[in-house]
Amino acid sequence: MTNALITGIGGQTGSYLAEFLLEKGYEVWGTVKRNSVAENQSYRINHIFEDVHLEYADMTDMSSLINVIQKSDPDEIYNLAAQSHVRVSFDQPIYTAQVGAMGVLNLLEAIRLTSPYVRMYQASSSEMFGNSIDEDGFQRETTPMHPVSPYGCSKLFAHNICRNYRHSYGMHVSCGILFNHESPRRGSTFVTAKVVKGAVEIANRLAFKLHMGNLESTRDWSHAKDSARAIWTIVQHVEPDDFVCASGVSHSVRDLCKYVFLRLGLDYEDFVRLDEKYLRPEELLDLKGDCTKLKTTLGWEPEYTFETMLDEMIEYWEERVTIK
Ligand code: GDD
Repeated sequence: MTNALITGIGGQTGSYLAEFLLEKGYEVWGTVKRNSVAENQSYRINHIFEDVHLEYADMTDMSSLINVIQKSDPDEIYNLAAQSHVRVSFDQPIYTAQVGAMGVLNLLEAIRLTSPYVRMYQASSSEMFGNSIDEDGFQRETTPMHPVSPYGCSKLFAHNICRNYRHSYGMHVSCGILFNHESPRRGSTFVTAKVVKGAVEIANRLAFKLHMGNLESTRDWSHAKDSARAIWTIVQHVEPDDFVCASGVSHSVRDLCKYVFLRLGLDYEDFVRLDEKYLRPEELLDLKGDCTKLKTTLGWEPEYTFETMLDEMIEYWEERVTIK
């Protein structure tokens, strides 16, 4: 049996990855960060609670990482733990970097010192590109990286230090440069879930306005389930490497609002209002990923489109909001 350890197993993508690995016959271990409301640590993995081993650990506490590595004896480690909200990273820049940058170095050192032959996956992010775009309008593995948020800067440090450990110590460390990925399990302060939840509440007369930030930025949105499958595929590659994972299609936040409200029979312009508190000190304007390398080298293909992903999210929030 292959053992896998997922840091951040209780997050959106961690929960899909855990399901995927269980289906493949893995023994799955995961780390959760202690929360005073225990239910908040594990609500996304309640349905597989009995099938996985959960341990408390924190990326900023290297001893906790060594402890969980020794207990789980993993063949593969998937690092999905982070303070992952870009807007919040402006409010908590030091914490974001402690977890997302130094935390990754803690994990690399823990692996190097205890089990250097483990395969490790690092959740790198398209936020690392900042406003750098190739001439054809896409970002890819070779696009220069100029991040525009504390979150993006911390992810870039992590990305570089992973490559450094790969080259310096011959460790099997791969990085997936993932563009935005969403699902019914997406936290409701990220834009897709916020718009879907808000629009469903408005359609059910539980709310009357939706306050938003920048509607003009564009993002390349995939389904987190497709992303979880890509993550596993990347780790199976013989040579550790970096791969972009994206849909290759981008939409503006305005388009997102238009689609979701229209699906509920509403015109977004009647309900969406600007609130400056949701603007960012510096904004990443456009993201569109070219994942040719992932497709041609590893044969990955997405199953969802922007529309089918949003339809699934609408269905999920309709059930929840109506039950209330
Ligand atoms: N969250 C949020 N809330 N975003 C808003 C809002 C709002 O009210 N109004 C407009 N936006 C815009 C943001 O300014 C941004 O341009 C876009 O919607 C997407 O925001 P998020 O959903 O918060 O995602 P993100 O692109 O900043 O970051 C996500 O994707 C990264 C990959 O590129 C996160 O999942 C990161 O962890 C991930 O690395």
